[in-house]
Amino acid sequence: MKTLIKGVIFDLDGVITDTAEYHFLAWKQLADEEGLDFTRQDNEALRGVSRRESLARLLKGRPIDEETAQAWMARKNGYYRRFLSRISPADLLPGVSDLLDELQQAGILVAVASASRNAPEVVDRLGIRGRLNALAHGGSVQRQKPAPDLFLYTAEQLGLPPATCLVVEDAAAGIAAAHAAGMPAVGLGPPERVGAAELVLPDLAGCRLASLDSAAAWRVSEPVFEMERQHHRETILTQGNGYLSTRGTFEERLPGDRQSTLVHGIWDDVPIAFTELANAPDWTALAIVANGRRLDMQAPGISRYARWLDLRRGLLQRRMVWEPEPGCSLEIVFERFPSLADEHLLASRLEITCLDGSADITVLAQIDSHVENQGILHWDRVSQRSRADGAQLAVTTRRSRKVLAMSTRVDGEGEGFRPDPYDCPGCPGFRLEGSLPQGSTLRLEKITAVYNSRDADDPLAAACEAAAGAASFATLLKKHENAWAEFWEEAGVIIEGDNEAQLAVRHALYQLRAAAPTRDERVSIGAKTLSGFGYRGHIFWDNEIFVLPFFTFTQPAIARNMLMYRRHALHGARRKASANGFEGAQYPWESAESGDEVTPTWVPHFDNPKKLVRIWTGDIQIHISADIAYAMHQYWQATGEDEFWAGPGCRVLLETAVFWGSRAESEGERFAIRDVIGPDEYHDHVDNNQFTNFMARWHLQTALDSLDWLEENHPERALALVDELDLSPGRLAHWRRVIDGLIVLRDSDSGLIEQFEGFFGLKDVEWERYAGRTRSMQELLGIEGCTEYKVLKQADVIALLCLLGDQFDEKTWRANWDYYVPITDHEYGSSLGPAMHAWAACKLGMPEAAYDHFMRAARADLLDVRGNAGDGIHAASAGGLWEALVFGFAGMRITPQEPVFKPCLPAHWTRLAFKIAQRGARWQIEISSGDKVKKERLQK
Ligand code: BGC
Repeated sequence: MKTLIKGVIFDLDGVITDTAEYHFLAWKQLADEEGLDFTRQDNEALRGVSRRESLARLLKGRPIDEETAQAWMARKNGYYRRFLSRISPADLLPGVSDLLDELQQAGILVAVASASRNAPEVVDRLGIRGRLNALAHGGSVQRQKPAPDLFLYTAEQLGLPPATCLVVEDAAAGIAAAHAAGMPAVGLGPPERVGAAELVLPDLAGCRLASLDSAAAWRVSEPVFEMERQHHRETILTQGNGYLSTRGTFEERLPGDRQSTLVHGIWDDVPIAFTELANAPDWTALAIVANGRRLDMQAPGISRYARWLDLRRGLLQRRMVWEPEPGCSLEIVFERFPSLADEHLLASRLEITCLDGSADITVLAQIDSHVENQGILHWDRVSQRSRADGAQLAVTTRRSRKVLAMSTRVDGEGEGFRPDPYDCPGCPGFRLEGSLPQGSTLRLEKITAVYNSRDADDPLAAACEAAAGAASFATLLKKHENAWAEFWEEAGVIIEGDNEAQLAVRHALYQLRAAAPTRDERVSIGAKTLSGFGYRGHIFWDNEIFVLPFFTFTQPAIARNMLMYRRHALHGARRKASANGFEGAQYPWESAESGDEVTPTWVPHFDNPKKLVRIWTGDIQIHISADIAYAMHQYWQATGEDEFWAGPGCRVLLETAVFWGSRAESEGERFAIRDVIGPDEYHDHVDNNQFTNFMARWHLQTALDSLDWLEENHPERALALVDELDLSPGRLAHWRRVIDGLIVLRDSDSGLIEQFEGFFGLKDVEWERYAGRTRSMQELLGIEGCTEYKVLKQADVIALLCLLGDQFDEKTWRANWDYYVPITDHEYGSSLGPAMHAWAACKLGMPEAAYDHFMRAARADLLDVRGNAGDGIHAASAGGLWEALVFGFAGMRITPQEPVFKPCLPAHWTRLAFKIAQRGARWQIEISSGDKVKKERLQK
């Protein structure tokens, strides 16, 4: 079994053995002798707490001198040790021995780390010393839990980076220590005590490695800093709140990083690609100088490093120890989040603790407008100001003249440190300066508000007011966590039996939500979400066919915003149709603000940037118009929102149907759609691509049916549309002729569909020659060369089967799967392929084949299997994972009454659970081994 963790660190008392009881008896004896009141309940507060602190709690404020304190602690320890001598291997708690065996067999390193100095003796008496790879106790470190030191020390003893270890604890202080060390935690005991842990269990009885490991399936971490992987890490550690997203770059920056904050709707002109989302000023900027040296991840002296994105809480954390010079050591913790509860607020916190020596510290907390989109500058400065009550900046895009404003408030806590206004051109902010003696901490909170001219008349005033009125970091974090908890409650998916898949799905859904417009219906999700410069923020069919179903079936209000974006973009689609000499509306292949086509016509060649390649997708990849209508229709089917269909839905459907009617070429009785690109972009300028033809036919038929529906249910709207779009009887009759006559390349005996005219006549690839390749077939065969071969970039006929599955019998499914799957570039073609193949394999009852495809999609971003994750999250692959799970593994179909399921789980998945929203109702779906389904309609 592949695990997410490499080491497990167990606390001792109450986890491995119940010495907690002996501690209680020993304290109780002392208390009784001294006439102190001490109950079992008082003892609860002593779990995981040092001896000295325990005594303080026992005394409940009663003063005693140091000498007496020492004597009492020694006495308690004496009693305790007398009890300890009774310990034997029989005192191992239930489940521990089996679990230790399993961990050892799986190659997981095991340690015990306990605050108790008696831990070595206890471990010996329990007879488990030989089964541990490390043992640490209170005497191993100075700072006790909740400080992370004991666990960090233990991880070092194991030779593992902290973020690869998991802690099992029964005390709140221990869980806090694990988290501070960058480790996920399993809490044993009642949720009131250990509820902060990622996984809460009553005890270890019956607990298996897979269950412990699942506690790590909420975080994406960077266990060690690797310069060469930074672009990838920046992408997967991106955070967002539906208004903007910020890549996981470092606060102090790194040479060559791709720092970015992309805000929905902030488009500005660029050469070649027409328009792109302008990289907004950097709200995360924090520079630290200690004893004259600047913190820099590449400098020597950094240890105990961990960085992780906690998906459950939407929080990015980094912790490390930095020695700016010999004899001085600083513990540094960064935390930040863009608030999901209030999309205009961005919060960060920095803590610097001097562990050794002393340090003169300077921190600069700024808003940095010296940002770029990979060499392109977008901003003119409007105003800036740094004053005690806030640092403010307003900038405007150079060509589209959109104003964006930020205001930052900095609160510092630490003796002698005070935030002073500090103004540099383009970087308003604060400076804090002071000296940090050993054992002291500087805490700093930076709260930033952001508005732009799309959402406020006076963005600067709005930002200033919001920053000034914002609550503290801790309060904002609480609200933010609640908002994420609500999201996971509604939209989360649980996979048991496969923690890698579980983590990948959570990450995918986190990233989709991070980019999804909560309130704004004039923006939508680009092919790389808001997480990178790839495709410049442009919106593709990825959105409608791969991303939208997740929202449609879990968060319809968000889905509606994204569909309304297309409604507003109809103007551009009309212009495109008319510029191409067609009627109606033709959506652009790549879309941005206006809905006009923004696909670049020429781009540099992948092998030789001096050579240009003509990109034809913007001219002839026309299936997008049907894809958009399909997504709108699916939304209507799922939500039953007739008002949407009668209004924006039918308008888009019918205007684009008019386009198809004029685009189809009459050839005698038949109709053709020539010179197109289908989903498989390895072949361009093809005729009668079957995905396109079938989708166009579906589109026209749905348009006729919907017009009937509209006439019956909303006659006045139907009349208005018929009039405006000239939906004359003649035009409708023409649509019927196109539906009947559109060329179908399907063999009626075998069911095999020819992807486009002439595909079967292309050359066969000698696949053996390409075994072990690490590049796409297009790179290997050349752009022109590839067009001569039977090789697919991604699902094309298979995609058609997935979307219009009901039209095809099993024979057709099988014949096309057998033909097309072996000739598809699954590894290095499009990232849109794998999830769709997983979905299709499930339809054919092949869960294990489906699983292989599914994991290829699951790893697209987290493992960067294509090497291009640095450009941004693969949105379609992320959405495709949800589709594969729900339409594939769970086999969901919707009927007017309720969703129905035909599951097909891989053998090792023991549970798949999720919720579905349909027609105002919510369903909890539980699928367990043996493909058993439990479906429950939830009360609102
Ligand atoms: C794929 C398209 C996709 C685009 C954006 C291309 O490589 O072939 O299907 O829409 O990327 O993700």
